[in-house]
Amino acid sequence: MATISETIRAPQVRQTQCFIGGQWTPSVSGKTFDTINPATEEVIAQVAEGDAADVDLAVEAAREAFDNGPWSTMDARDRGALLHRLADAIEGELDELAALESLDNGKPIRDSRAADLPLTIDCLRYYAGYADKIHGQTIPVRGNYFTYTRREPVGVAGQIIPWNFPMLMVAWKWGPALAAGCTIVMKPAEQTPLTCLRMARLAQKVGIPDGVINVVPGYGPTAGAAVVKHRGVDKVAFTGEYKTAQIIMRDASTTLKRLTFELGGKSPNIVFADADLEAAAAGAHFGLYFNQGQCCCAGSRLFVQDKIYDQFVDKLVSMNRARKLGNPLDPETEQGPQVDQAQFDKIMHYIDLGKKEGAECVSGGARFGDRGYFIEPTLFAGVEDEMSIAKDEIFGPVLSVLRFKDLDEIVDRANNTSYGLAAAVWTRDVAKAHTLAKKVRAGTVWINCYDVFDAAAPFGGFKMSGMGRELGEKGLDAYTETKTVTVSLS
Ligand code: NAI
Ligand code: MG
Repeated sequence: MATISETIRAPQVRQTQCFIGGQWTPSVSGKTFDTINPATEEVIAQVAEGDAADVDLAVEAAREAFDNGPWSTMDARDRGALLHRLADAIEGELDELAALESLDNGKPIRDSRAADLPLTIDCLRYYAGYADKIHGQTIPVRGNYFTYTRREPVGVAGQIIPWNFPMLMVAWKWGPALAAGCTIVMKPAEQTPLTCLRMARLAQKVGIPDGVINVVPGYGPTAGAAVVKHRGVDKVAFTGEYKTAQIIMRDASTTLKRLTFELGGKSPNIVFADADLEAAAAGAHFGLYFNQGQCCCAGSRLFVQDKIYDQFVDKLVSMNRARKLGNPLDPETEQGPQVDQAQFDKIMHYIDLGKKEGAECVSGGARFGDRGYFIEPTLFAGVEDEMSIAKDEIFGPVLSVLRFKDLDEIVDRANNTSYGLAAAVWTRDVAKAHTLAKKVRAGTVWINCYDVFDAAAPFGGFKMSGMGRELGEKGLDAYTETKTVTVSLS
């Protein structure tokens, strides 16, 4: 095992309470829940279990900060400066935050350090720069009138996030909301509340005014649902499962809240025989196994062209054999455990189903070790379009490899899903690449690469993969209302 610094070996848990109106408080009920280390199944800490009463207090604080407080009167440029300071503060504690993320989520420290943290910081800086650049238009209209628009913050944003990229999801939600001038009630995932709470502490430290950011840890059907139903919340941004989004849509219908959803996928990753096969294999492997397969955009339907199919599968299998599973805090570890027992069980169920439905499990397929929620990198060959493992989001280290003949056939098969989050194509033929990019119904298409994210590039889903876009300039739409003002010049 490589040497592990003290900061990383034993990250400190400092915040475990609700953060409401700048105060750290136990839940109103006094209840707590355990957050678990998925590598050992041991309890890391007890965290305040918020519910409707806590959400009421958080919304009250967020409303006050929005309606009468410092946030609505602060110059936009000063808001941007605070966002920059938050990004700097996170950067200043990069190692410790990365370790805390790995402890709570189980992701390898090398990934937290190389991906989660830098992307989090970059996203906050990107939106810091937008704070003073959100403005309306002057519009020529008929008659003797002067018409202009204002882009105003939508108000109090309720933000509900999942556990797969805990800090990064905070940044994707806080960045545009704060830049636009909204205030926030956030409900982090019950599996991974720790880094969100730490970020709230850093926000307080750098001077983001009390009440602007409020965090209520707790469960979805209680704390989460209370955020969605609350009359004082103007908008809900949610990332997670489509079935949860369906519940949220129903719960939000009474108040007709603005909704944005970033949901799952069953993204096609298409490899043509004329591709750079080394690069394609590396990309296909990374595109599925990264983050233990717990990515909304995972390339979980890998379509490989007939004539290179066997050789390509062999390459992937040998990569799986070489993959290093183990302690997420060991810098050499490439794959950690799944986030919890429920996800572990769901994935094992799909592995069984794949075998039963007649796909060929050519690597992995079993639990790894006897402690923690580890699953071997698993690969199914000979997968057919109608099998469950080719249709359902598994959200684990399980790759389905399908065979295809030509371009005509692959477009329909790639689109034969209710999802539409991402897709990728590997080929040296420019026309083929762009034809697919045009015809695939997905919010993001990667050509000869996979999982390339940037704070400036909009991300979101077609069909049941989501509503609206996050990141980029587009990401601000979710947090602004357009107001039209018309003045008579007569
Ligand atoms: P989930 O959608 O239930 O949880 C995501 C967030 O929503 C959590 O903060 C949760 O507490 C909250 N939530 C749950 N029920 C709610 C409700 N009724 N009202 C308001 N908020 C609620 O996802 P879960 O159960 O953690 O994972 C199930 C599956 O969802 C995974 O196996 C995966 O397929 C998918 N998923 C997709 C993600 C993505 O990035 N698109 C992230 C996490 C899960
Ligand atoms: Mg759920």
